[in-house]
Amino acid sequence: MISVRDSDQLRQLLLQAKQDGQSVGFVPTMGALHPGHLSLVKEAKQQCNLVVVSIFVNPTQFNEQSDFDRYPRNEQADLDLLRQAEVNIVFLPEASEMYAVEEPLLHFDFEGLDTVMEGKHRPGHFQGVVTIVDKFFSLINPNAAFFGQKDFQQLAIVKLLAKRRHPHIQIVGCPIHREANGLAMSSRNTLLIEADRSHAAVLHRALLHIQQGWHLQRADTLRTEAIHMLTEAGVTLEYLEIADSQTLMPFSDSYNHEAVACLAVRYGAVRLIDNILLPASPRA
Ligand code: PAJ
Repeated sequence: MISVRDSDQLRQLLLQAKQDGQSVGFVPTMGALHPGHLSLVKEAKQQCNLVVVSIFVNPTQFNEQSDFDRYPRNEQADLDLLRQAEVNIVFLPEASEMYAVEEPLLHFDFEGLDTVMEGKHRPGHFQGVVTIVDKFFSLINPNAAFFGQKDFQQLAIVKLLAKRRHPHIQIVGCPIHREANGLAMSSRNTLLIEADRSHAAVLHRALLHIQQGWHLQRADTLRTEAIHMLTEAGVTLEYLEIADSQTLMPFSDSYNHEAVACLAVRYGAVRLIDNILLPASPRA
């Protein structure tokens, strides 16, 4: 595995690989790696000859400075995991390598995808995400890039970014990896105290309640019941929405499209998100 901190060096390595006819798979991360990240690496290894993983805690996507400061960083352990996973290149840029001083963020029309859920609750977050992902795509120009469905709205936005600005890059969405108790894996889980980590299993239970009742009960009833389960359990809920999985607009009693139930909660200063897919009606 080659570790690279310099964009020019990365460009050179990839030029050589592409001249040799290798397909390149890219997995962007912010480090503090866990099995969810490694499942993306595994998928990339299966589909591409050469896998590049980036580790960069992107300052422009944090809408709270304290969240950025507290974000877990564990470079040595990450490098060990990536070596074991037989990653070819890990890219670890400094902020100054990715951003010129006082550089404006990418001006991007999200077609409304950023007006709901995470976009509504974390102003500016997705502008920071598309800015850094666009920079990585331009630099690495992979054949395919791998993203988790854990960040469902991010995946939808990255697909739009690729369609508009990098149409030759295939965006591959990968399923959510969970702990044994159902909690979606996240770098931020390491910041939870043990009691909250087991308590947070209720998030997945609430989402499963919606999925199990889907097509049997009204969507708004299921949503209300799931919110009740969470608040009864003492969870501080930011939102729980049921949306069209393509447009992310609120679900409108039309079962012709796949839907998704998404939530965000807080355990103290730690913010967690999760979601579950809800199938279209078999008759659709
Ligand atoms: P990060 O939170 O490190 O996540 C990197 C990738 O891993 C994302 O595509 C995310 O959806 C995926 N992932 C995280 N937890 C997962 C899980 N439990 N199961 C499956 N996939 C999971 O998302 C980011 O970083 C950043 O916003 C980034 C895209 C790197 C841009 O800075």
